[in-house]
Amino acid sequence: MQPLVRRGWLFHLLVAALFLASCGSDGEPTEERARLSRFDAQVKVLLERMTLGEKLGQMTQAEIDKLVSLEEISELSLGSLLNGGDADPKEGNSVEAWARMYDEAQRAALASRLGIPLLYGVDAVHGHSNVVGAVIFPHNIGLGCTRNAALVEEIAHVTAKEMRATGVHWTFAPVLAVARDERWGRTYESFSENPQLVAELASAAVRGFQRGGLAHPEAVLATAKHFLADGGTQFGTSTPPLMLIDQGDARIDEGELRAIHLLPYRQAVAAGVGSIMASYSSWNGTKIHAHHDLLTGVLKNELGFEGFVISDYLAIDQLHPDYKEAVRRAITAGVDMGMVAHRYREFISVLQELVWEGSVPVQRIDDAVRRILRVKFAMGLMDRDARLWSNAALQRAVGSPEHRALARRAVRESLVLLKNENRALPLRKDLRRLHLAGVHADNLGYQCGGWTIAWRGGSGRITEGTTILEAVRALVSPATTVTYSFDGSGADGADAVVAVIGERPYAEYIGDRADLSVEPRQVELIRTLARRGTPLVVVLVTGRPLILGEVLELADAVLVVWLPGTEGQGVADVLFGDAAPVGKLSFSWPRSMAQIPINVDDPVYDPLFPFGFGLSYEEGVARR
Ligand code: GLC
Repeated sequence: MQPLVRRGWLFHLLVAALFLASCGSDGEPTEERARLSRFDAQVKVLLERMTLGEKLGQMTQAEIDKLVSLEEISELSLGSLLNGGDADPKEGNSVEAWARMYDEAQRAALASRLGIPLLYGVDAVHGHSNVVGAVIFPHNIGLGCTRNAALVEEIAHVTAKEMRATGVHWTFAPVLAVARDERWGRTYESFSENPQLVAELASAAVRGFQRGGLAHPEAVLATAKHFLADGGTQFGTSTPPLMLIDQGDARIDEGELRAIHLLPYRQAVAAGVGSIMASYSSWNGTKIHAHHDLLTGVLKNELGFEGFVISDYLAIDQLHPDYKEAVRRAITAGVDMGMVAHRYREFISVLQELVWEGSVPVQRIDDAVRRILRVKFAMGLMDRDARLWSNAALQRAVGSPEHRALARRAVRESLVLLKNENRALPLRKDLRRLHLAGVHADNLGYQCGGWTIAWRGGSGRITEGTTILEAVRALVSPATTVTYSFDGSGADGADAVVAVIGERPYAEYIGDRADLSVEPRQVELIRTLARRGTPLVVVLVTGRPLILGEVLELADAVLVVWLPGTEGQGVADVLFGDAAPVGKLSFSWPRSMAQIPINVDDPVYDPLFPFGFGLSYEEGVARR
């Protein structure tokens, strides 16, 4: 394959000129990314003291619940730990338990010969979403519909504060995927199908997570993921049997790769993102984790990324049946840290062999460790001061009314009104009787979606929050009777019905679907309710556009709320007119499966609802 980038002296002269141009009047680099290499003098002193084993330990991220004992952290000089989506503290899932777990692990790291602190990461992808009691914000597909970068930045900042309360200071977020095919189970993690919108909102998230600079006690390290073109894979090209499109092959030319999928990374790197996660997927048949031209040539050399690249979870294993060869390919390509979960000893062992036999140059190891240590110095971890530990003063703020108010506002701004006939919305608060139907009306787990408390999310009261039904009951007048049934029974006599339907939680390839039609059982519920003749409002709880079919005709109004998170009040606010619907679709809404993939830049474009569509109450005419 032709090298993606060819760099002569002129290229380097240009880069140097651009760098000098980016410096402020005092010669100080003005961009966060330039400041990371500012720590190289301190890094060099430490690097020269490190043994090969200690360097390889720093390149290793283990999963805490896979450790045999915490002593292994100091024994191996591990550089990082993570809690995957299903790894809770042994003593239970509370803010305090997370804080104790984190502090205990960090203390173990300080007991190593050089006492290099851990980087500790989680998937805080819509709030500190592993932790019971944390505020769960709308998933990115909803935030994309707000078009509000300042709001996205504030959400990331609040998420960072709730994280630092537990000590955890690294989130594997934001997702920079430009999802191009809604059949992908990770569509809801993407802000949009439009690269400019993704770039704008993802950079805002990076700024919010890292607000005040990486050394700020309330900032966390952000991760732009998954580099590159994770959202551009072709349906049917995934290899493992469970997957249909996730981790598949992006069969696109370099022009599309750069214009659609690379653009958000340019802005995230410029915003100073400190880490980047490689994608499980492939580009024209080559796994990204083994793609030197992309990971090193483009990301590190062309974009000038000075932080470190982390692999995805056990993604290295997919590169070759022989683990040692798989590790060689990943590290040589430009992966700096392996997210190797339980394989931490094996990873260190084979990498040691690779260096000893000369298959992996020690310069590559030093480059990887330098990048990791730059971030640790930039975050102030090496100062081993109060910033190293969980912050009890912030624990009161976790799940606070102020944080929940921000989430409620985000919910309101993310909702998109697709239809509103016969003035069905806004509903009156003084109706004599209102009936809510559908299991999604009273299920906190369903409205939070995947990556909430558990990897795949859950059902029912998985954390603290307000369901849509609870929010409606709190908002209507005392004289109004609100009844509920999951199957629509008992709706007779109600002045209006709100049917809440949609998808059940999923994550990653679990959510890959060949058919996005509304479930037949839910269509039947809407048919039954529509026959009653009173106003029928359909609320969609979904991680992506669905094929609506007759649901659109049968409903007087259709409001899509995406995966709103714990603050169901935001939905009630729009249902009853306390907040007008302002959301604009961040994805094209297809008429049928035959149209998918469908994107706003397609040469022929005829969606049911176009990218950017969203009604106000007054515009109540649905497009046919
Ligand atoms: C997962 C995801 C990635 C996540 C990582 C750690 O497989 O692909 O987005 O950050 O593992 O949970």
